[in-house]
Amino acid sequence: MTTTLYTGIGELTTNVARTGDPCGTITGVAVLVDDGRVSWVGAASDAPDGADAVVDLDGRSVVPGFVDSHTHLVFAGDRADEFAARMAGTPYAAGGIRTTVAATREASDDALRARVQGLVAELHAQGTTTFEIKTGYALTVDGEERLARLAAEVTPEVTFLGAHVVPAEYQDDRDGYVDLVCGPMLSAVAPYARWVDVFCERGAFTAAEGERILRAGAAAGLGMRVHGNQLGIGDGVRLAVALGAASVDHCTYLDDEDIAALAQSDTVATLLPGVEFSTRQRYPSARRLLDAGVTVALASDCNPGSSFTSSMPLMIALAVREMGMTVSEAVWAATAGGARALRRSDVGHLGVGARADLVVLDAPSRTHLAYRPGVPLVHEVVRAG
Ligand code: NIG
Ligand code: FE
Repeated sequence: MTTTLYTGIGELTTNVARTGDPCGTITGVAVLVDDGRVSWVGAASDAPDGADAVVDLDGRSVVPGFVDSHTHLVFAGDRADEFAARMAGTPYAAGGIRTTVAATREASDDALRARVQGLVAELHAQGTTTFEIKTGYALTVDGEERLARLAAEVTPEVTFLGAHVVPAEYQDDRDGYVDLVCGPMLSAVAPYARWVDVFCERGAFTAAEGERILRAGAAAGLGMRVHGNQLGIGDGVRLAVALGAASVDHCTYLDDEDIAALAQSDTVATLLPGVEFSTRQRYPSARRLLDAGVTVALASDCNPGSSFTSSMPLMIALAVREMGMTVSEAVWAATAGGARALRRSDVGHLGVGARADLVVLDAPSRTHLAYRPGVPLVHEVVRAG
């Protein structure tokens, strides 16, 4: 058992809510980490003696490790040409997913593993300490099982997304593909997965298909998540709320009914501003959701098509500048919000007992995450102590 005392913290974001401050901000404090957990937080002058190591953070601010609750990190190739064409005026269409499916099916385990490890290193360097990974770029039984197995090597938060799009070989047999997803594919992937997800959108899966797949996943012991309302008004949010999904992600196009349904539910609205940034869609209003009482998370959606960035600080900056969030709301959404979306109580905050995931910023306050966009402010990342 090792204990480390982090002292000299200028501003600490604990996310242990206090009246008027969901971020639970305290200043001039120290944090004691014992065997990977936060065991004491308090005024630096009251810090306990006898820690095995003492680290003086010299007035830097500390936030909880970012919780990126939505990524698609296991894939091969890239779609830089598609991005360049988009910037020249071609609109985003989810059809590009098939380009990545073709490249991923061809890639060896080692090539995919090396790619994932590179991306995970990027995430860590930018302060992400908990992340989810979806399958969805193989769309065959063996292929999806392989992606889930590789994802499970780097995170316990693996999501089965066999229902990403209908693959070309099932173009004329959608029902056959949904049967495959709900049957043999789910059985092969479930041992590696914690979640099941469906892309419920025009051009992907209908609400009826999505409901079948989500219910099959739930019957196999998986929690539910939905990709919805990305490309237009649709059924994704209503489906997620009706089934009690943990999260519905994108939420770019919402009507009043969607917002009212979310406000009365435990389903988190996960916003993915990297997608609007890289596809030149309009940003959704997080303000509208927050004012209605909806729980909002921020995630990167890191994938080669709609958002090829692994940066949670960028998500915070975009959410503040483009979606009407305050800095505190955005930092909360990128930490505690992501933890809610993954139904985790051990991460996303720095209360006593939390996993000791600390991001030390080369900045006096968390505000700098939005105020200084694009600047590498992460000084040090402590992962589970
Ligand atoms: O979350 N919406 C569906 N899936 C991904 C896009 C994947 C891709 O374009 O490759 C998303 O944006
Ligand atoms: Fe996604």
